[in-house]
Amino acid sequence: MKKTLFLAAAIGFAGLPVNADERVAVIRDDIVKKECGACHMAFQPQFLPASSWRTIMEGLTDHFGEDASLDEETARHITGYLAGNAGRSRGAKTAIRITELGWFVHEHNDEVSPRARKKAGTMANCTACHRGAEKGYYDDD
Ligand code: HEC
Ligand code: HEC
Repeated sequence: MKKTLFLAAAIGFAGLPVNADERVAVIRDDIVKKECGACHMAFQPQFLPASSWRTIMEGLTDHFGEDASLDEETARHITGYLAGNAGRSRGAKTAIRITELGWFVHEHNDEVSPRARKKAGTMANCTACHRGAEKGYYDDD
């Protein structure tokens, strides 16, 4: 019994934000879709905790080397949506990359061939490998 509990806790911590066969909730906000989907796929809020989204939204003038700044009202609206639909914090409260989270690295390290990785260009290019990513499907290959 104790062992089972321990295992469940361990998996919960390192595990996926979703059950394997579950669809990740799609973004239902047109402003988020437009502004955060201009340079890359708009990542579903569930993949990061609210604190991470706030950190990202506070740093838009230097967003991974790009200026992604927005007017105050738009930024406030987007922050509200992302934080309001965020995932649970799994010990990575300030991570600003989904691709550096423990579950992500674990899930992709052995599964992704060097060739596929190279073709995608960057692991942040979810749609290169998950064709249904924008519709919330990641369990497709
Ligand atoms: C270079 C290819 C590639 C890229 C880029 C990539 N993935 Fe994956 N992903 C895979 C493979 C392969 C698997 C393991 C097979 C599977 O379960 O679909 C996987 C598994 C997953 C899973 C677990 C699916 C499940 O239910 O078992 C999730 C969630 C996921 N990826 C999300 C993402 C997100 C979010 C991004 C972008 C930030 C991303 N992936 C980028 C190839 C990729
Ligand atoms: C001007 C272009 C641009 C816009 C607009 C933009 N981003 Fe990005 N974003 C980038 C670049 C470039 C990266 C780094 C991609 C990489 O490493 O491959 C990135 C990466 C990210 C990552 C990390 C991906 C990973 O590695 O896990 C997140 C999260 C993110 N952006 C969120 C947002 C949000 C939220 C918005 C809307 C407020 C937004 N982005 C708008 C250019 C942009």
